[in-house]
Amino acid sequence: MAGGGSGIGRAVCARLAEEGALVAVADQNEAGAAETVRGLPRGEPGQEHEAFGVDVSSAQSVGELMARIQARFSAPPRVCVSCAGITMDEFLLKQTEAAFDKVLQVNLKGTFLVTQAVARGLVESGAPGGSIINMGSIVGKVGNLGQVSYAASKAGVEGLTKTAAKELARFGIRCNVVLPGFIATPMTDKVPPKVLQKFAGMVPLGRLGDPKEVADVCVFLASDESRYITGASVEVTGMGRESGARTPGFSPRLREGSGGCWVRAGGGWEPGLLGSIPSSGREVGVGGLEQGGWEPGFLGSLPGLG
Ligand SMILES: NC(=O)c1ccc[n+]([C@@H]2O[C@H](COP(=O)([O-])OP(=O)(O)OC[C@H]3O[C@@H](n4cnc5c(N)ncnc54)[C@H](O)[C@@H]3O)[C@@H](O)[C@H]2O)c1
Repeated sequence: MAGGGSGIGRAVCARLAEEGALVAVADQNEAGAAETVRGLPRGEPGQEHEAFGVDVSSAQSVGELMARIQARFSAPPRVCVSCAGITMDEFLLKQTEAAFDKVLQVNLKGTFLVTQAVARGLVESGAPGGSIINMGSIVGKVGNLGQVSYAASKAGVEGLTKTAAKELARFGIRCNVVLPGFIATPMTDKVPPKVLQKFAGMVPLGRLGDPKEVADVCVFLASDESRYITGASVEVTGMGRESGARTPGFSPRLREGSGGCWVRAGGGWEPGLLGSIPSSGREVGVGGLEQGGWEPGFLGSLPGLG
């Protein structure tokens, strides 16, 4: 479990352990990984879990992790979930090369390195089967204002996973990608409650998702119940931000005047984002007839963009 020290990754670890898995919890945040391990159930004798430090964006670090896992559990992981991810949100016109590279290195290259290392371990072990599950995002499919690097990285994760599925099928290894929508995690804890309510209002099921709801899907994809599923993208969104561009800036609800997007002074928020826009200007209300603006007006009124 890469990125098991927090949020969705921690919830996946818990569900896998409930199913009897021996979980190797790897994260850059070693204290977070250790905390996850402390909270995992140990059912049968011999069901043990261990925390590992890793930087998924480094081939050397991922290589060392795999060696340590194999030494500890005497086998490569039969199930691998790649959950490590970061955001460095910024609009296309302002995104720096360094920030773009960093997000791609962790989210996309990190997923590549972990997928490759686990697949190599499984193939070399000669044991048939295996399930690799990568965490994408619905944003990779539909795009999102202010998330140019994140959306690009997550679209890459989807393409990578589908390619891996085709190449690894002959070894019996299945690869699938999960696309969460708005999920309440430490990432969203930073968002003001008022804005979270707006997010929830955009989701047809009427609420944010819970990490456990993503974890349940991962457990299904890890299990034999999904034995004929590979190369699939599974959306876990409550149908929020569904494919077809119902993004906040263009939501039909906004046209009815019931919605709104905000960019506020002092690192403000915009409902399409799960991160802060480093905004330097005033509070700007956009979308909704009462505010008299659609997307072009929105872009035109962003501080720093003229
Ligand atoms: N929360 C959401 O709404 C949401 C929506 C769609 C997709 N996702 C994806 O789900 C995954 C988990 O997100 P989350 O909301 O639980 O976030 P989170 O911040 O709670 O967890 C991410 C974890 O990744 C770890 N990590 C970051 N960089 C790393 C690195 N270089 N090497 C190893 N570990 C590293 C962090 O330490 C952290 O424990 C991410 O890939 C995220 O993009 C989240």
